[in-house]
This record gives sequence, structure tokens and C-alpha cells, in this order.
Amino acid sequence: MNRLFVLTGVLACAIIACTSSAYAELKEEVETSAIMKKCFGKNGLCGTCIAQGKKGDWEDAAKTAKEFYELIEKLPKGEPKKGDKEQFVKKAKAFGTKVKAMKTAAEAKDETKFNTAVKGVQGACKGCHTAHR
Ligand code: HEC
Repeated sequence: MNRLFVLTGVLACAIIACTSSAYAELKEEVETSAIMKKCFGKNGLCGTCIAQGKKGDWEDAAKTAKEFYELIEKLPKGEPKKGDKEQFVKKAKAFGTKVKAMKTAAEAKDETKFNTAVKGVQGACKGCHTAHR
């Protein structure tokens, strides 16, 4: 009887520990601030990708753009710091399309398209920050 009680307790703890760590991982994945830092902080993916494109290192630029896009794709699942969540999701999805254009242009080694896409990405920061940061 006693042993069963202890066993149940241990099991319950194991389940709680397991689910809470999985939850933490899930939460980390869509942490808006962490995504922003990785993409736009010091040595961030966006700046790195632009620099690689400028040098004509299209293979590296395409790789970096892929990583950049994979993170921005998760942005709609994150939370805005302020403002309406639905509006944030819309902006985040539209931003994803702009980042994807950078990736496509880098893969195509198309300098003109790449520069246009970069302008599109850089032009989108302010609107979202004003409403949601
Ligand atoms: C779809 C919305 C959206 C777009 C587009 C966006 N951001 Fe952000 N950004 C946010 C939000 C929301 C925060 C605040 C996150 C928090 O603190 O919870 C933020 C925070 C940041 C931070 C601070 C990160 C930190 O916590 O230290 C930087 C830097 C940043 N953004 C750079 C940029 C740049 C550069 C662009 C454009 C190239 C951009 N962002 C585009 C929503 C956006």
C-alpha cells in the first residue's frame, strides 16, 4: 500500500517534469523577443545575409536566408508585446512573405531581386514595432 503510494507520487512527478520541460521548449520556440534578437541583433541573420549578398556569396546568403526565414515563419505563433494579437499575426505573416523573397532571390543569385526584397524587409520593421513593440 505504502509502496504503491510512493510509486504513484514518483510517477506523477515524472509526468509533471516531462510535460513542463516540453512546454518550456515550445514556448522558447515562439518567443518573439528571442526571434528578433537572432534575426536582427548583433551579428543577426538578417544583417549577415545582406552582407553575404552584397559580396556575391550567394550560396552562404541562401543558407542564412533559409535560417532567417525559418525563424520568421514562427513569428505569428509568438506574442506581441502590446496591441491586438490578430493584427500582429497578419503583419507577421506578411513579413514572412518579404523574408521569403530574400531567400528566393538569394537562391536564384538575383542581385536586383535580392536588393528589392531587402528593402521590403527593412521597410516592415517600423509598422509592426509602432503597433506591437
Ligand atoms: C510582425 C511584427 C514585427 C516585425 C515585422 C519586426 N519586428 Fe522587431 N519586434 C517585434 C516585437 C513585438 C518586439 C518586442 C518583443 C518583446 O520584447 O516581447 C520586437 C523587438 C525587436 C527588437 C528587440 C529585441 C530584444 O528583445 O532585444 C529588435 C532589435 C527588433 N525587433 C528588430 C527588428 C528589425 C530590424 C525589424 C525589421 C527588419 C523588425 N524587428 C521587424 C515585432 C516585429
